[in-house]
Amino acid sequence: MKVDVLLGLQWGDEGKGKIVDVFTPKYDIIARFQGGPNAGHTLEFEGIKHVLHTIPSGIFRDDVMNLVGNGVVIDPVIFQGELDKLEPFKIDYKARLVISKKAHLILPSHRLLDAASEASKGKNKIGSTLKGIGPTYMDKTGRNGLRVGDIYSPNFKAKYDSLVEKHKSMLQRYPDFEYDLSEAEETWMAAIERLKELTAVDSEHYINDAIKAGKKILAEGAQGTMLDIDFGTYPFVTSSNTVTAGTCTGLGVAPTRIGNVIGIFKAYCTRVGSGPFPTELKDEVGERIRKEGFEFGATTGRPRRCGWIDIPALKYAIMINGASELSMMKADVLDNFESIRACTHYMINGERYDYFPYDVTGMEVVPVYENIKGWNCDTTKLSSFDDAPNELKSYVSYLEQKLDVPITVVSVGPDRTQTLENKH
Ligand code: GDP
Ligand code: IMO
Ligand code: MG
Repeated sequence: MKVDVLLGLQWGDEGKGKIVDVFTPKYDIIARFQGGPNAGHTLEFEGIKHVLHTIPSGIFRDDVMNLVGNGVVIDPVIFQGELDKLEPFKIDYKARLVISKKAHLILPSHRLLDAASEASKGKNKIGSTLKGIGPTYMDKTGRNGLRVGDIYSPNFKAKYDSLVEKHKSMLQRYPDFEYDLSEAEETWMAAIERLKELTAVDSEHYINDAIKAGKKILAEGAQGTMLDIDFGTYPFVTSSNTVTAGTCTGLGVAPTRIGNVIGIFKAYCTRVGSGPFPTELKDEVGERIRKEGFEFGATTGRPRRCGWIDIPALKYAIMINGASELSMMKADVLDNFESIRACTHYMINGERYDYFPYDVTGMEVVPVYENIKGWNCDTTKLSSFDDAPNELKSYVSYLEQKLDVPITVVSVGPDRTQTLENKH
């Protein structure tokens, strides 16, 4: 069997959590391969909304295993909080969840470094979620990091102390940054003890044995392609590879074992945090999308920047990921629009661009739009795409023609059931 991948094609928050939960019954294992608690993946069913940060979005389904891969960074405190929230739902997470011994740990001092670094950047700040993601991946690539497998070692405390010492000396670069680590450290160490109650595995063997045994596996991306460390709008990105290739390194899956790549995007576009966003609407239309789409961060609560769909950015993301099918999310958010718009290319200094140029600092990127007739009716109660209004069907066909990949799912609400299959 091959490993299917589901990932975001925009700047995150496309609705990955919802769609992974919808697809989970078709799989035996759901595996996260990168990112950490900067992610906020929302699932909704039976009138209850759940937000997951580190735990894969297959956790609510029976008979499915969930794997936190080696490419993920784990904050034990946030992780415990997530597990605690599962308790009232009687989810047997100890039986359904395994974590990679090679996943790196986010220390309280990583979070301090994240905060100090962001504060020092002033108006150039990345708009990080401040979960310590950047500093943790820096220690990983700098070969200083602590991993889940280390927590069982008798030297763990010594390794921890040595890394914290290094962080303290780094924090001296920020003389105005005040901190007190002691309380956070105590909570963190207690959370490490609870982490030991879960099963830590050699995840690359776990996943490859599962592939050999014919198990169906879905890799769940976090963030989105435009936040990828290599291919996103650098430096306004996250610190991991959010693209399909990240599955290979973040789980130990060989490229020849990758199957379907499902790219997901909103019927419009959002971004949270700083950085370029050519189709951003800073007017009442953007405000309206934010309101109708309830566009506020699932992790930080920050209002998301909103704008029209950006076809050049989507084409780029499809190319980098090799997306073989697409899911279009939040179509219902545009239900009350007489007309909508799609950006087909950009103009920069009077020149046409069909892709995002290397550096847009100080440049005015002018999006060029095509106007599209809105469907202007309620889609949230549809149970079949066949019954969708013609204008929505036309929008889907228009995007399929532009993107050259089939849109197999159209989502019309946050609930599991509000998901339409577009049969081709
Ligand atoms: P993720 O990070 O990609 O999992 O996405 P988030 O959970 O951060 O943000 C997506 C938000 O949109 C969540 O609040 C979802 O409940 C919601 N959502 C997902 N799909 C739909 C949809 O089709 N329509 C509407 N209105 N909301 C949706
Ligand atoms: P999900 O998985 C949207 C953004 C932050 C910031 C930048 C770097 O829910 O789609 P970081 O905390 O990684 O240092 O922040 O990336 N960002 C996200 N935006 N959705 C996410 O995850 C994000 N994770 C990080 O806002 O601009
Ligand atoms: Mg999110």
